[in-house]
Amino acid sequence: MTFNFDAGTKRLALKSKLPQVGETIFSTMSALALQHQAINLGQGFPDFGSDPALLNHVTQAMQEGCNQYAPMAGVLLLRERIAKKTLDLYGRSYDPVHEITVTNGASQAIFTILQAIVQPGDEVIVLDPCYDSYDPSIQLAGGKAVHVQLIPLSFAPDLDGIRAALSPRTRALILNTPHNPTATVWTQEQMRALADLLASTQVLLISDEVYEHMVFDDATHQSVARHADLAERAYIVSSFGKTFHVTGWKVGYVLAPADLMREYQKAHQFNVFCVATPLQHGLARYLADPAPYLELPKFYQRKRDFFRQGLLTTRFKLLPCQGSYFQCVDYSSLSDLSEVEFCQWLTRQAGVAAIPLSVFYQQPTEQKLIRFCFAKKDATLETAIERLAKL
Ligand SMILES: Cc1ncc(COP(=O)(O)O)c(C=O)c1O
Repeated sequence: MTFNFDAGTKRLALKSKLPQVGETIFSTMSALALQHQAINLGQGFPDFGSDPALLNHVTQAMQEGCNQYAPMAGVLLLRERIAKKTLDLYGRSYDPVHEITVTNGASQAIFTILQAIVQPGDEVIVLDPCYDSYDPSIQLAGGKAVHVQLIPLSFAPDLDGIRAALSPRTRALILNTPHNPTATVWTQEQMRALADLLASTQVLLISDEVYEHMVFDDATHQSVARHADLAERAYIVSSFGKTFHVTGWKVGYVLAPADLMREYQKAHQFNVFCVATPLQHGLARYLADPAPYLELPKFYQRKRDFFRQGLLTTRFKLLPCQGSYFQCVDYSSLSDLSEVEFCQWLTRQAGVAAIPLSVFYQQPTEQKLIRFCFAKKDATLETAIERLAKL
């Protein structure tokens, strides 16, 4: 950190490590939604409760006295259950003792992975539009984010673009499927092509799979864990916050081969040490039954269909939604405003908050696209649609 003492004002001025970063758009839009009593379809969180059984498990764990520090890598039973879930779903075995760490949500996991693997000057490839924590986390680790755009408007990976971005400094690539914000899902062929592309490199993979259980129609979640040649170079990240409707708990996990996990844990033990103990015990007990996550695709597919059906009564044009709990729409028949301005206008005038896609890009990109979150009660979605239909 660099402090400059300003003799004139007699104040210390801190030189920012992230000068270009301000408040996130999610906070800005949520505050605007609150101010205008708008329905918040902007930030990605459910407005419905989670399973009372899960809450009971956590409460019980607390009352039983599970309230002191947990083991650094996480409560063993939880790691064992994560290993079983991964093996059952994706056919890959991770050793609960050496290859799994419980984290304070996915963002912390990604931040700490980058701290563990990025050396000053290393490059990390990210695929735009992408989740807003990636670039600053790379910078804080001393690295440089190299942005490659997903192909507009299919948002498929641009493998030639990735190939062209690879350099001797490339340390890692961050992949996210199902994808926030575009709701696309990588196919098996795309994963194979990525594996071929990386085969002769030393590039590590950070696979952000927080929406792993929100995949619709006949698509299959292509976890990196399904692909041996990718998994051997990968950190895979998931989030119980997303899966069990408890985003405020911020509990997730990382899977990685033992040698990669060893380096991860060196950073994790000083960055976090451990995650809230009763939450871990509660989640471990809840995971004994796979039904809640196995039923999640059906649960969200019904919400997606309900929301899309409603949007057909509006002037928005729908983009496909194969996974995640986001629906992107094109508003070009409604307005010429920029995406940010349109979202502000929509919040004030229609009483519905959304997120502009442009904020997920490093390069200024205007496509007249905005993102809605449909992880909401049917009544919330219904009211939002009524308001949107009036435009
Ligand atoms: C793609 C993606 N990665 C990571 C996260 C963060 O997950 P968590 O709340 O578990 O930190 C989010 C949350 O919105 C996300 O959309």
